[in-house]
Amino acid sequence: MKTKNEIKRIGVFTSGGDAPGMNACIRAVVRTALFYDKKVTGICRGYQGMIDDEFEKLNSRSVSNIIQRGGTILKTARCEEFKTPEGRKKAYDNLVKNEIDAIVAIGGDGTFTGAWEFMKDYNIPFVGVPGTIDNDLFGTDYTIGFDTATNTAVEAIDKIRDTASAHNRLFFIEVMGRNSGAIAIRAAIAAGAEAMMIPEQPITVEELIAIIAKGEKNQKSSSMIVVAEGGKSNKSLHEIVEEIKKKFPQYDPKMAILGHTQRGGSPSCFDRILSSRLGVGAVEALLNSKSGVMVGLVNDKILYTNFDRAIHIDPSVDEEIIRISKILAM
Ligand code: F6P
Repeated sequence: MKTKNEIKRIGVFTSGGDAPGMNACIRAVVRTALFYDKKVTGICRGYQGMIDDEFEKLNSRSVSNIIQRGGTILKTARCEEFKTPEGRKKAYDNLVKNEIDAIVAIGGDGTFTGAWEFMKDYNIPFVGVPGTIDNDLFGTDYTIGFDTATNTAVEAIDKIRDTASAHNRLFFIEVMGRNSGAIAIRAAIAAGAEAMMIPEQPITVEELIAIIAKGEKNQKSSSMIVVAEGGKSNKSLHEIVEEIKKKFPQYDPKMAILGHTQRGGSPSCFDRILSSRLGVGAVEALLNSKSGVMVGLVNDKILYTNFDRAIHIDPSVDEEIIRISKILAM
């Protein structure tokens, strides 16, 4: 394990799907490293840039005026080559060539899986920062970008509600999250949705029909169903809408897929602060000889979780919030 004095230059990169707040985290990493008299290099396009030797020295001005910007100034990529021993060897050789002694990796489970594999063969300390809109990592209550993505989803659902209500329509709105219903759950409650379809508690089309029928009985003028992309039980959203249309033609069911709008935009205040705290925590972890861990925020405290636990343990489902959503959707 490298000591504080042995670490002279820290590398930082973003990888996987971008998330609002990644720039705020890069800024925090760079400035914390400089605060402790360490040098910093940005690695562009994640593991792909590590393999292709895309390194860029960073100073405090390189990260000026980025805390409020979405996307990532270091760019990002999903990289198949890093999954091979040959790819990881090329990456290691470039890290040595660029005199990188320790690394902060900002990304999701794919990013930490890559780091975990790499660390089995090469002795370069890695600390991870959870950066994904999906909020699907064990070891942190929130991942960078989740709050902003959820706010974006809620804003869009509110707008759709206006037109749905004007026409007495039923809308299915698909939100992102891969295998996690975290965005769907929060967005559904905040937007007052009538129902949600999430992978953690799948519902059948028959159950959905019963919920819509109940709303009709209660004289609802519009209904919003929030659908997690992983919550459709092997059906396409189109197929679900067609089935519902047969039962409730009077509601003229429509669908909207919010897609990548949820990944863009200026990070919320919450995400900027979360990113700043986690960025500082990541550098301080490296300087305290930690490696192979993800920094997270649990009950408002900085905590470190081993990569294998962060990747392999499913974060617990917020049963309480699901219960609340069912009470309120009458
Ligand atoms: O992991 C973030 C995420 O936005 C998921 O919610 C979504 O399933 C996936 O990435 C989309 O990936 P891509 O942008 O590569 O299509």
